[in-house]
Amino acid sequence: MKNIVITALSIAAISLTSCSTTQKTASVQSPQTLKEGFKNHFYVGAAINLDAIHNNDKKAVAIIENQFNSIVAENCMKSMFLQPKEGEFFFDDADQFVAFGQKNKMFIIGHCLVWHSQAPDWFFTDKEGKNVSAEVLKQRMKKHITTVVSRYKGKIHGWDVVNEAIMEDGSYRKSKFYEILGEEFIPLAFQYAHEADPNAELYYNDYNEWHKGKVETVVKLIADLKSRGIRIDGMGLQTHVGLDYPTIEEYEKAIIAYTNAGVKVSSTELDISALPSPHKISSNIADTQAYEKELNPYTSGLSETATTKWEKRYMDFFSLFLKHKDKVKRVTQWGVTDIDSWKNDFPIKGRTDYPLLFDRKYQTKPIVKKLIQLAEEKKN
Ligand code: G3I
Repeated sequence: MKNIVITALSIAAISLTSCSTTQKTASVQSPQTLKEGFKNHFYVGAAINLDAIHNNDKKAVAIIENQFNSIVAENCMKSMFLQPKEGEFFFDDADQFVAFGQKNKMFIIGHCLVWHSQAPDWFFTDKEGKNVSAEVLKQRMKKHITTVVSRYKGKIHGWDVVNEAIMEDGSYRKSKFYEILGEEFIPLAFQYAHEADPNAELYYNDYNEWHKGKVETVVKLIADLKSRGIRIDGMGLQTHVGLDYPTIEEYEKAIIAYTNAGVKVSSTELDISALPSPHKISSNIADTQAYEKELNPYTSGLSETATTKWEKRYMDFFSLFLKHKDKVKRVTQWGVTDIDSWKNDFPIKGRTDYPLLFDRKYQTKPIVKKLIQLAEEKKN
């Protein structure tokens, strides 16, 4: 009898062990997508265009749904599209964008409430085409921000409230907002956004964000908003970078400076150009064809050497974000596949660039697996 009991117990123990081994095998299967890989670190997102928003580009939609857990609209929430004429709002595209994010339970970002570019002319002028008074511009800003933010209250989780207002040397951009309202347009925009949705996160967003002068002024701005009790949650680092600028060291310094001011950072528009900067190429090449070839060298595919360099840059940036993951809320790509990237047209029109993680045929680039592995290594 004793033997039977021991045998039965042994069988039970063996089957329990094998059962837990099976479960363990299932649970340790390595993550296959960016959102699984980075889920313990930060959100991974993408900017999406109208073709994806309206489900016309189904392959892009599949990538977005599988790989990302955050989205931002590449264009359709800019003021010239949301309020093309005074008092006439157009929300069809933005509503669809938000519905897409909600359906997929994503962290949804609104981009952007106040930006000198892509703002309709009427915003700043009266019937005679002259600048409006400070009071009128304040009213227009308040109406725009309140209408847009309240519509998506509780649905959009974070807003790029002000975009690109500070120059690299630390001075304020001489935009219409600045010309008419002075520096005060920034605190006002944050205040109006907060009043419209007190739970939404609010960000200042900019490019060339590692430049010393810009860092200093933005840090002062954050301190000023905080000292006045005005909500600001984050600094949006656009991260439009290249193979040889900026250095990782200067980028890290900027992350530390911004977060020391009391906000989180997000990489909000990440893309890494694989092409040479035009100003680094000698403009006195007499042969035009040779010059063009030098500016746009990879029209039929990125060379192996360039791919290796480009992959290393992605690894270096993600290593940095992981090193500071306590400070980083989100890393968002500006686009989904290379074919739709704005970098093909900037700073020169019509080049063939390779800045994103998915290629022109909607294939996942090999770097994605390496990034996921990196995230796994930094899990604890
Ligand atoms: O909507 C019009 C369409 O009616 C017209 O037929 C067509 C003809 O060119 O243009 C369309 O507008 C274009 C718009 O994108 C929407 O597709 C503009 O010409 C084009 O200049 C605009 O470019 C966008 C740019 O911002 C300016 O708003 C890029 O797609 C977008 O990637 C870029 O994104 C910015 C961020 O918002 C802020 N940070 C920098 C980043 C890159 O420039």
